[in-house]
Amino acid sequence: MSSLSTTLPPTPPTADPDAPSQIAWPDTEPHRWLTSLLNGSSYAYIVAPMVDQSDLPFRFLSRRYSSNLCYTPMIHSRMFTTDVKYREKFMPKFDEAKHPMGGPVFHQFCGNNEETMLAAVNLLPSYCEVVDINCGCPQGIAKRGGYGAFLLEEGDLLVKIVSTLVTKSDRRVTVKVRILPTGVADSIALYTRLVDAGASLLTIHGRTRHQKGQLTGKVDWNAIKQVVDALGHRIPIIANGGISSMDDVRACIEQTGVRGVMSSEGILEYPAIFMETNVTATGGKRTAPSRVTLAREYLDLNDKFPNNCGGQGSGLKCAKTHLQHFLYSDLQPFPEARTAMHEAHSTSDMFAVCDLIEKQNGDNYDKSEEGLGWYNRHRCEKEGETKLDFKQVELDEDFGGCFGGMLGENAECGGDY
Ligand SMILES: Cc1cc2nc3c(=O)[nH]c(=O)nc-3n(C[C@H](O)[C@H](O)[C@H](O)COP(=O)(O)O)c2cc1C
Repeated sequence: MSSLSTTLPPTPPTADPDAPSQIAWPDTEPHRWLTSLLNGSSYAYIVAPMVDQSDLPFRFLSRRYSSNLCYTPMIHSRMFTTDVKYREKFMPKFDEAKHPMGGPVFHQFCGNNEETMLAAVNLLPSYCEVVDINCGCPQGIAKRGGYGAFLLEEGDLLVKIVSTLVTKSDRRVTVKVRILPTGVADSIALYTRLVDAGASLLTIHGRTRHQKGQLTGKVDWNAIKQVVDALGHRIPIIANGGISSMDDVRACIEQTGVRGVMSSEGILEYPAIFMETNVTATGGKRTAPSRVTLAREYLDLNDKFPNNCGGQGSGLKCAKTHLQHFLYSDLQPFPEARTAMHEAHSTSDMFAVCDLIEKQNGDNYDKSEEGLGWYNRHRCEKEGETKLDFKQVELDEDFGGCFGGMLGENAECGGDY
């Protein structure tokens, strides 16, 4: 089959989740399912699974600003089945899809045993209709646990996990994968087996497991296009990696023909990236809310729906990490606010940091000048620079401590899944 991007003229993606789909996607059950899940929207704009960062209040905030599909952070299947405290932390408290501020949410699990994963999935309330399998984490903890990107190299086991969940649970199953180190052809052969086993959607992070830390490098959209060419006529294919604005979204959709895009680091910095802001059409200007506004909105949501009460977050640490990402460009040049942020012990302390920043900005502050500051690794690469900038270092340091309580002892996952 030829690429969807060539058989169908690229249509400008719409950031309006209620707009009817303008595209005749292939008439298969998984495609029809996604269309109905997205309420007719042409494309999926997805908040990535992020340990301790795709928590419930963050999902609410991102949906307010045009994301139309969210993933929970990864849930460890064995711990979910055996550790009551862990389970309590990750168990949803209500049907997010039906909440006025809610929408579709995929619960992501990691694991390497089909019975354990089935048991974990079956513990979820029945309204959690979609479960995703993490085949992306490249870190040491995933290597030791035999899950994440390392599970991709155990093809028979992974296929067994998918078919067990598809046939024995009443959930829909999706998989988030990386490209295999042995190349795109091997990757497509494996992904085809996953589709044959009943996977309804694949998200392709267009990097191999070796591309992490200083070696992260560019996302391979050409590889994603080849996956769309091979499997896009059967199930929806989603692109992940390097998306930080609607300009990136359009370029990615045009080059690959995917049904949607997923963002992690970009959306962490600025949860309104799926709006027409900071794009060529606005002259690079910010037209959506300012950083501080979004930070305040997150804190408000976190007060109402604490991330650590069924929201898959660690509490204060999770909220603080969000604030540090939202406000990176404000905190960098402002030591007093940085110290206050560092010492914050509550959301009201963090509101006070927002007050400090707004006072410093003054009445004539022009939010239209706000650019993307924290997430510039990919932008540097686009401009032809090969050297990774300071942000990657910041990222690893910021996230280094944030996984301990969320993954169990000796966790060492960084932000490079
Ligand atoms: C803080 C953080 C936590 C992450 N946690 C997960 C996770 O739980 N499950 C997963 O599949 N990927 C996880 N990832 C990887 C992202 O989902 C995504 O695949 C990766 O960051 C590439 O997308 P990007 O270029 O938009 O950042 C995480 C990434 C970050 C930065």
